[in-house]
Amino acid sequence: MPRLRDAEGPLSTLATVTEARAKELYVVVCAADPAAEVSRLVAMAQEAGWIVQVVATPSALDFIDVPALERQTGRPVRSRYRKPSEPKPPRADAIIVAPATYNTINKFAQGIADTYALGVLAEAPGLGIPVVVLPCVNDALAARTPYRRSVEDLRADGVRVLPGLDWERALAELGD
Ligand SMILES: Cc1cc2nc3c(=O)[nH]c(=O)nc-3n(C[C@H](O)[C@H](O)[C@H](O)COP(=O)(O)O)c2cc1C
Repeated sequence: MPRLRDAEGPLSTLATVTEARAKELYVVVCAADPAAEVSRLVAMAQEAGWIVQVVATPSALDFIDVPALERQTGRPVRSRYRKPSEPKPPRADAIIVAPATYNTINKFAQGIADTYALGVLAEAPGLGIPVVVLPCVNDALAARTPYRRSVEDLRADGVRVLPGLDWERALAELGD
């Protein structure tokens, strides 16, 4: 009997709440060559049950196939802040930044929000949204003190900065 009570009680309520809204993953894409491969990450995330919203930095628009990603996700690729009259997009449940450039990593760590992508990232730790960053930074840049400090500061804020561009591991970090 306790099992029956569980099925009709809090557990079934939890299941209904969980099913009510699919999880929203923001994939933030920066301006580096692996951005051209981001459709693979999108496909893997969709397979894992995420609704995917691609957010590109303005510079990343030159590196990605915007119409193809929009067909794949069924969503516009967002690269600029909305106009005040435009509706607010659904909030992210999780964010993967891939590829993450030296520029965006340093700005994220400094709290700069001068692109839509950085604006989304700036708020995320304060909102408790998990963020996974996959840096794509060459050895010369990765050795710089400002970059090493940025990675340390982001980690101190709860942001997960992973080594290498491992899409699978990024999704696994989010529990899928
Ligand atoms: C072909 C090309 C490849 C680049 N690859 C990288 C890279 O791998 N990592 C990086 O940090 N910057 C790279 N850059 C430089 C960034 O695109 C540049 O710093 C840009 O301002 C980053 O903008 P974002 O961080 O807003 O995307 C590359 C630039 C070009 C033109």
